[in-house]
Amino acid sequence: MLHEGNKVIDEKRQGEALMLDTPTSKNHKKLFLESYGCAMNFSDSEIVASILSGDGFETTRDFNEADVIFINTCAIRDNAEQRVRARLQDFKKLKKQHPSLIVGVLGCMAERLKAKFLEEEKLVDIVAGPDAYRDLPNLIEKVEGGQKAVNVLLSREETYADISPVRLGSNGISAFISIMRGCDNMCSFCVVPFTRGRERSRDPESILAEARNLFDQGYREVTLLGQNVDSYLWWGGGQKKDLDPALVEDALHHRLPAGEQERFTTFADLMDRVAQIHPDLRIRFSTSNPRDMTDAVLHVMAKHDNICKYIHLPVQSGSSRILEKMNRGYTREDYVQRIEAIRRILPGCGLSTDIISGFCSETEEDHHETLRLMEWAGYDFSYMFKYSERPGTAAEKKFEDDVPEEVKGRRLQEIVDLQQKLSAVKTREAVGKTVRVLVEGPSRKSAEMLSGRNSQNTVVVFPKGNIRPGEYVDVYIERCTVATLIGVVV
Ligand code: 5AD
Ligand code: SF4
Repeated sequence: MLHEGNKVIDEKRQGEALMLDTPTSKNHKKLFLESYGCAMNFSDSEIVASILSGDGFETTRDFNEADVIFINTCAIRDNAEQRVRARLQDFKKLKKQHPSLIVGVLGCMAERLKAKFLEEEKLVDIVAGPDAYRDLPNLIEKVEGGQKAVNVLLSREETYADISPVRLGSNGISAFISIMRGCDNMCSFCVVPFTRGRERSRDPESILAEARNLFDQGYREVTLLGQNVDSYLWWGGGQKKDLDPALVEDALHHRLPAGEQERFTTFADLMDRVAQIHPDLRIRFSTSNPRDMTDAVLHVMAKHDNICKYIHLPVQSGSSRILEKMNRGYTREDYVQRIEAIRRILPGCGLSTDIISGFCSETEEDHHETLRLMEWAGYDFSYMFKYSERPGTAAEKKFEDDVPEEVKGRRLQEIVDLQQKLSAVKTREAVGKTVRVLVEGPSRKSAEMLSGRNSQNTVVVFPKGNIRPGEYVDVYIERCTVATLIGVVV
């Protein structure tokens, strides 16, 4: 599961209009592209922009002047979908004024609802799922010819490896690189395997080329994206889906004899290679799954200073009984052992998690196990949600969504309050220390201050002096808020 930076976008960030600076195009059509959801969705929008720029579109930040509006949607929780529907109302009004305007729905909600979307939202013209973006020029043409257009085919191969994303809304310093698509985990609460299809890894050479190219353009940080990066696997002839599952398991865990293991690229191998591009290129990744994370990944992180010491390791619940119902594939004890390995191999590594409150049948005791685990782990951040039942998932079919809304809410509040305390402890620990920061741009609150993050992913702000985005600086931390470190460059 994915997040952007240290925010969950579908919760905290409204849809964002993305701008594409392409030269004036052959047919001068204007595209307005708005994205919701996780980092993968934002990364996909960059692929959509690239595909449509090849078809003569230029983007606009003003939807009033658009010929085509695409909204790239998220389906992870009901409130994410409600937000999209509210936004579609705005576009509907516009379409009544400009009947030739084309409105398309992309992404996870498009995949979940398929053609039903056209019945429910009559003014939508195009519905395209996450693996159908190469078809967008044809879909647009079909609508221009007076029809509605749907393509929600999921693919076992598509990774858009050859498409060079157009960096949208970028600070020119940090970029996402998607290294795989889909998810095979089948957590019982989660809609993603249905909306993004089967897991597939992208050719490592295309990933390395993209990272090198970004570095050459001045970017200094790449975040390698996948729903479950630890299960990334590529072998000489292709992808792991074509291999014997037992061999795949051995390859993923680096258990094959040396000569044979070399035929494979695991996530640890991939990061090792990306880290060697340049010592000034920082590497982050998201998301790790506790069931699949190997020590090999931790050792590669320890080996390279430019791999950030920060791991997002979603736990979801501290109760083994609930974890089993969630089909997470690990127990509380397994998870604890993963964190112990992180602490042993990567002392001082930043750690964050995802937690769901009020999953089916959760008792007060289960909830307290979650709180106790959070305290033990001492997370730097958490992304915390109330359970939202998703149609078609195993949990929806098998279990009753039986924790009352107010109990979910109260438990969530207890989780949030505890995380506030844990985060405050973590940031206070940094006061009086000097930390290395990659400068990203002006701070949100003051034009006189710059902002960046330390290796552990905590935001650091400091007076700007003559420093420019993209530089690395050492900042002496003088004070802090709950989530931000404030200091001076030394
Ligand atoms: N209800 C609430 N939270 C969910 N997540 C995924 N599915 C659901 C759901 N049905 C959360 C998980 C995941 C994060 C991205 O979103 O915590 O890790
Ligand atoms: Fe990302 Fe789709 Fe999941 Fe939303 S539902 S978080 S967009 S993968």
